[in-house]
Amino acid sequence: MSKRIAVLVSGGGTNLQALIDAAKRGELGNGKITCVISSKADAYALTRAEENGIKTRTLIRKEYADIASYSRAMRDLLLQEEVDLVVYAGFMTILDENVCDAFQYKMINVHPALIPSFCGKGYYGLHVHEEALKKGVKVSGATVHFVTAECDAGPIILQKAVEVAEDDTPETLQKRIMEQAEWKILPKAVQLFCDDRISVENNKTYIK
Ligand code: GAR
Repeated sequence: MSKRIAVLVSGGGTNLQALIDAAKRGELGNGKITCVISSKADAYALTRAEENGIKTRTLIRKEYADIASYSRAMRDLLLQEEVDLVVYAGFMTILDENVCDAFQYKMINVHPALIPSFCGKGYYGLHVHEEALKKGVKVSGATVHFVTAECDAGPIILQKAVEVAEDDTPETLQKRIMEQAEWKILPKAVQLFCDDRISVENNKTYIK
């Protein structure tokens, strides 16, 4: 039986699109995207899902008083959808241990930097690239990792480095990292997971 994948989104959804395109090429291994869940009602990612005949759900963050109640609702929704893998694709909300424990090593996130640089609470979206440029790094990139209750700290699955140009703006760097790294390593990590090729030992992953 194929693995049921829920993709969590909050925005434009270009990483979701990369997953949809990989699925069309038969490159998600034994996985199938069965549901897209958005934390925002107006996320363009929802349109991408609908255009591709994928079921959408919304769980609006601001309708919940705190992270604990939002996390419980998300856990219940994911259990109801009977998902085997949860993919954060530009999902901008931190979920607590209620979700992370229920789906231990079954949730993965793409982060637009080489963890442990430019990560953790407050590092999301364009802000990550602003900080990388402020620091003057010559190389940045993207990381796909398992999600744990500690933000951006779970076992690393794949990373890809991307060169920084002297005249980069946060926008140009973001675009290059998406094109050269995120849109490649996220579908690849999903494929590895769905083909049961990733194991975790002592907080490190091993790819079979
Ligand atoms: C992507 O660059 C993703 O790595 C980043 O937000 C962007 C979402 O774009 N995620 C984070 O910063 C999470 N900490 P998308 O909606 O077009 O995929």
